[in-house]
Amino acid sequence: MAKPVVLGIETSCDETGLAVVVGGEIRSNVVASQVEIHARFGGVVPEVAARAHVESIKSLAHRALAEAEVHPDDVTAVAATQGPGLSGALVVGFSFGKAMAWTLGVDFIGVDHMEGHLLAPMFQHEGYEPPAVVLLASGGHSQIVHMPEWGVYNMMGGTIDDAAGEAFDKLGRFLGLGFPGGPAMDRLSSEGDPSAVQFPRALPDSPFDFSFSGLKTSVINWVRNSHASGEEVPIADVAASVQEAIVDVLVAKTFNAVDETGSQTVAGGGGVLANRRLRARMAEEAEKRNITLALPSPDLCTDNGAMIALAGQLALTWGRPVSWTGDVDAGMRLGHHH
Ligand code: KG4
Ligand code: ZN
Repeated sequence: MAKPVVLGIETSCDETGLAVVVGGEIRSNVVASQVEIHARFGGVVPEVAARAHVESIKSLAHRALAEAEVHPDDVTAVAATQGPGLSGALVVGFSFGKAMAWTLGVDFIGVDHMEGHLLAPMFQHEGYEPPAVVLLASGGHSQIVHMPEWGVYNMMGGTIDDAAGEAFDKLGRFLGLGFPGGPAMDRLSSEGDPSAVQFPRALPDSPFDFSFSGLKTSVINWVRNSHASGEEVPIADVAASVQEAIVDVLVAKTFNAVDETGSQTVAGGGGVLANRRLRARMAEEAEKRNITLALPSPDLCTDNGAMIALAGQLALTWGRPVSWTGDVDAGMRLGHHH
């Protein structure tokens, strides 16, 4: 049988991502970031995001097909993000995808964005196999998932307040690093001392849940107190200490889940997994236990169309029902396909 040729479309937030995945391999993966557009507002403005997707999606589709050297008639399925995300932004990619699939006479698959992140390690890690524990950490969601077999997801824990990326972004903004805060914190932290300030590690009762609102308050208080006492705030040290606090909690909770389930594989996905300190710490812990670590390269941790194409292809392989009547779902939850 010929290999499936899937066009993947991602428009859940502020990146327009189009990709062609053939038989599970990336042939093209183009992303148009809206970061500069939203930076002057200090965050993603939903209406502005939706319009920017409209402006770039058609030329990106052309580019993705051209770079993959795939003719539209050779596409066998179109997959687009169905949720979770910003409704107006989701509608752009979802409708564009449906229209393309309808025109080409091929299957259309609505994909869960977080399932895309969860499956993305497959591109680069042959050893990524269930049973596995997966840390999903992005701007809007943070979860620890146990995957006993492909396509089956047990939620073990997650954040009880802010998502990890949200914590990075809010604290980055507070420290004057602009938007988005995550990548800026990562860069600045490499020049700072992570043990300079001992910010609290909030450890909620559940061994697999995390919380970041207390950290936020304590960083704000610490910086204000330093200013009030006339001390100079060593910004790189503060950034490195904040990053260390976030990473400590994410790593501790993820490996609690690894130990609890006895998983021989730990994986990750979502923009926060691009963080260099988090990647290094996960590698250390995996090595200590002599288990497999499957992290996508940083460009495949952040939002992209390739992971959506892959998740769409697997949904077909796994025999999930394909429906043309589905609508976008801003609050979509992992494991609840429709
Ligand atoms: O998965 P993603 O690209 O979009 C969403 O689905 O939300 O994740 C974006 C989040 C943002 O909060 C961003 O600041 C964070 O991932 N992020 C990082 C890094 N790169 C992106 N956080 C920490 N360190 C990074 N290097
Ligand atoms: Zn994402």
